[in-house]
Amino acid sequence: MGPFYVENAPMLGAGANIAREVDGAPLLLSGRVLDTAGSPVPNALLDVWQASSLGLYDVQDSSQPEFNLRGKFVTDSEGRYAFRTARPKSYPVPTDGPAGELLRASGRHPYRPAHVHSIASAEGFNKLVMHIFDSEDEYLESDAVFAVKSSLIRDFNRLDTHDADHNATLPLPYYTSEFDFVLTRPGEMA
Ligand SMILES: [Fe+2]
Repeated sequence: MGPFYVENAPMLGAGANIAREVDGAPLLLSGRVLDTAGSPVPNALLDVWQASSLGLYDVQDSSQPEFNLRGKFVTDSEGRYAFRTARPKSYPVPTDGPAGELLRASGRHPYRPAHVHSIASAEGFNKLVMHIFDSEDEYLESDAVFAVKSSLIRDFNRLDTHDADHNATLPLPYYTSEFDFVLTRPGEMA
């Protein structure tokens, strides 16, 4: 989950925005929570968090309101979720402690590719903790904490006109991306 997870982020309605304008270009993330047979998981809880355009989480940056860029969403009867945020940016991990010494000693840069953190959970399923990474990020091959897997990388598609499928009030341009979370039951292989 990393050092910047915070419990008790607010529960929000489908499509709610967790970002401020200064946090970056609008991004609409949507998809479904499914079981391994591909059936939807209704009432699954999605807990998401990410850094601002400055590369800082709210807990590192006193200029951000509490719970900025954090929220919890519940899937509908078809397992669907949707929320609005800002397109994440790459950021350096703090380098003023032992992690910085280790990175310098091993000749590695401190950057993490742009990502949204998530925990998907539902009754009767194993909790799934992961990131969604931006396919255009320059650090995908060299993440400072080695968390990138190809299955976690998605295109963030830029839209310059309002798409009939999406909220016409979103400021242009905005980005959309889709991610389906697949949950396993205890004893089941991923
Ligand atoms: Fe992060």
